[in-house]
Amino acid sequence: MSFHPFLQRLREVPSVALVLGSGLGDFADSFEEPVYIPYAEVPSMPISAVPGHAGRFVAGTLRGTQVIAMQGRVHLYEGYSAQEVVYGLRLMIAAGAKVAVVTNAAGGIRQDLTASSLMLIEDHLNLTGHNCLVGPHDASSGPRFVDMTEAYSSRLRTLAREVAEHEGIELMEGVYAGLLGPSYETPAEIAMLRALGAAAVGMSTVQEVIAARQLGVPVLGITCITNPAASVGNAPLSHEDVQAVASRRKVDFARLLSGIIAALPEVEHEC
Ligand code: HPA
Repeated sequence: MSFHPFLQRLREVPSVALVLGSGLGDFADSFEEPVYIPYAEVPSMPISAVPGHAGRFVAGTLRGTQVIAMQGRVHLYEGYSAQEVVYGLRLMIAAGAKVAVVTNAAGGIRQDLTASSLMLIEDHLNLTGHNCLVGPHDASSGPRFVDMTEAYSSRLRTLAREVAEHEGIELMEGVYAGLLGPSYETPAEIAMLRALGAAAVGMSTVQEVIAARQLGVPVLGITCITNPAASVGNAPLSHEDVQAVASRRKVDFARLLSGIIAALPEVEHEC
């Protein structure tokens, strides 16, 4: 993998890498002095065909911190390999990012999670049947067998709770189940996921978190609950509704994320 053409286009070394999920991509529009790098211009970078995923990197400054974001990601259900799914995040970390913030839209399984709740990811269940670390081991990426005990940094979660409280934003917390998709779940599958301890279900994120942890980068995960999962509510699920609800929550989401990023330098050295 050669990262050089990408690195050359960045004006500054980023400290924080963000992956912005469905309906949440607008957050990168608030970066100052933005540099846009369309995925199509990055060698080997996979491109999503899913509506609502812009398909570019945006680098810039946010409240004094150098950040880089992916507006849109590719998914396993598009037929990409787990290695391709994590390629963009690996690039951002190779560019210098020391913290990864992953965001997504998900269905709420737990009763207290209603459409438009924001949820801090406490941990995940990788039920995709894939793992981005399968295959030959490249020792420069980190260990072969990666410790996932603290997949989501407890220090970063504490910080997120403090910022949410300060901003007056309700922030729920729970386990995210990552499934392959692209069909939504059956009621029986939701009953199974509930029994396994999942609070929310989606089709992304878990691979990126595994890749970041192999590279030793602490992760913060934030989910926007866009719908009650199948049979938890009574409406059929649609991608249009998922995008619309995520985008309705974008103001609070942006306040929460920018507050966290502004406070990151205080905790970065402890992670
Ligand atoms: N299930 C899986 N993925 C999702 C959902 C859901 O209910 N909502 C948004 N992404």
